[in-house]
Amino acid sequence: MDWRTVHDKAVENMTTAGLLYEDGNADIDSGTNDVDTLAWRRYGILPRTFHNVGDIDTSVTVGGLHIDTPIFGAPTAYHRLASKQGEISSQNGMHRAGSFIVYPTNASEPVEHFAQEAQGEWWQQVYLFDDRKVSAGFMERSVEAGAKALMLTLDCPGYRRDFGFRNGIDGTWEGSSGNFPNMHMTDWTLNLATSITPKDIQWLKDLSGLPVYVKGVMRPEDAVTAMNAGAAGVMVSNHGRRQVDGVVPVAYALPRIRKALGRDAEIFADTGIRTGGDVFRALALGANAVGLGRPIQWAAAAGGEDGIVDMIGKITDELAHTMNSAGVSRIADIDESFLVEGQGPAAIASYGVGF
Ligand SMILES: Cc1cc2nc3c(=O)[nH]c(=O)nc-3n(C[C@H](O)[C@H](O)[C@H](O)COP(=O)(O)O)c2cc1C
Repeated sequence: MDWRTVHDKAVENMTTAGLLYEDGNADIDSGTNDVDTLAWRRYGILPRTFHNVGDIDTSVTVGGLHIDTPIFGAPTAYHRLASKQGEISSQNGMHRAGSFIVYPTNASEPVEHFAQEAQGEWWQQVYLFDDRKVSAGFMERSVEAGAKALMLTLDCPGYRRDFGFRNGIDGTWEGSSGNFPNMHMTDWTLNLATSITPKDIQWLKDLSGLPVYVKGVMRPEDAVTAMNAGAAGVMVSNHGRRQVDGVVPVAYALPRIRKALGRDAEIFADTGIRTGGDVFRALALGANAVGLGRPIQWAAAAGGEDGIVDMIGKITDELAHTMNSAGVSRIADIDESFLVEGQGPAAIASYGVGF
C-alpha cells in the first residue's frame, strides 16, 4: 500500500477525534503537512552514471544501532488512537521492518508494559516537566525498562493548548496518558517545561547514563549549542508543522544545520517525508536517517503491525530503486551533488520549467 491508500484506510478505521488529532497542524495558517512534503520536492534529483549499482545497501547505523532502512519511527503521542496495542504494535512493526520507534513520553501504553511486550531496541522521547522531579522519576522508569537512547524534545514548551478550538477534541477521547494516568490532556501541555537550558542535556545524560539526542532544532546556532552541551546528535524537525504556525520547512533548515555541524555529526530529520524519493532528498540534504510520524500511525490504523511492515518495506524499496537509478549504492554516499534546488516536480509545477 502506498501512503495515500494507507491514509484513506486510516480515515475509515480511526475515530474522528483521533484522526483530527493525528492529522492536525499548529493553527489555521499552517496549511497541511503537505507544505513540508512539497518543500522536499522542490529539489530535483540529478542522477549519475558509470557507477556500479549491483548491490544497493539501505542500512545505516544510528546511535550504534544497525538498522536495515534509514527510516525510524519519530515519537508521536497516543498510538492507541491508531491501534489497540498502541506503541507495542508500532515498535513490533518497525522492528520487523528492520528499525525501531522513539517511544513517546506521552504514550498510551505505560513504559513497563511496552518494554515487556515490544521486540528489539527502542529509544525514549523526553518531554521535560517544569517539575524536574517528575521528569527524573519517569527517566528512572524508562531506563529501568530498557530504553537505549533519549531524544529530548525542545520545540514544545509548556502552554495551555486548547485542543478543541480547531479540531473538535473535547478531552474525553481515547488519548489518555499511559505513563501519567492522572494528567489530563490540558494539564499535560501546561506542565511541560517553559525553560529548557543546554544544562538539561548533561543533567539527562548523568541521570540516565544514555546518549541524549535533541529534537526540534531548526537553527544552526541552536544545533551547535546542543552539541557543545553534550548532545549525541540533533533531529531537525518542525514537529510535523504542529507547533509554530507558518514555520519554515525542514528542507530549508536541514542543509544549514549540516553545514554548521560538519560531516561527522549525527543528524536526523522528519516532517512531511512520505516516499523513497523524499527520504533520498533528506539524506542528500544532510540527514543520516529520517523519522516518519503520522504515516506510522496511519499504517497501524490501516493494517496494524503488518500494515507498518508493509508501508516501511514499500518506502524502503522506493528508496533502493531511487538509489539504483540515480547511481549510488550506499546511504553514506548520497550527498548534495544529487540535488538541484528549484528543479524538483513541486517547484516546476509552481513556476514552470526554468534553467
Ligand atoms: C499525532 C502526533 C503526535 C506527536 N507527538 C509528539 C510527541 O509526543 N513528542 C514529540 O517529540 N513529537 C511529537 N510529534 C512530532 C513527531 O515526532 C514528528 O516530528 C512529526 O510527526 C513528523 O512529521 P510527519 O508526521 O509529517 O512525519 C507528534 C506528531 C504527531 C502527528
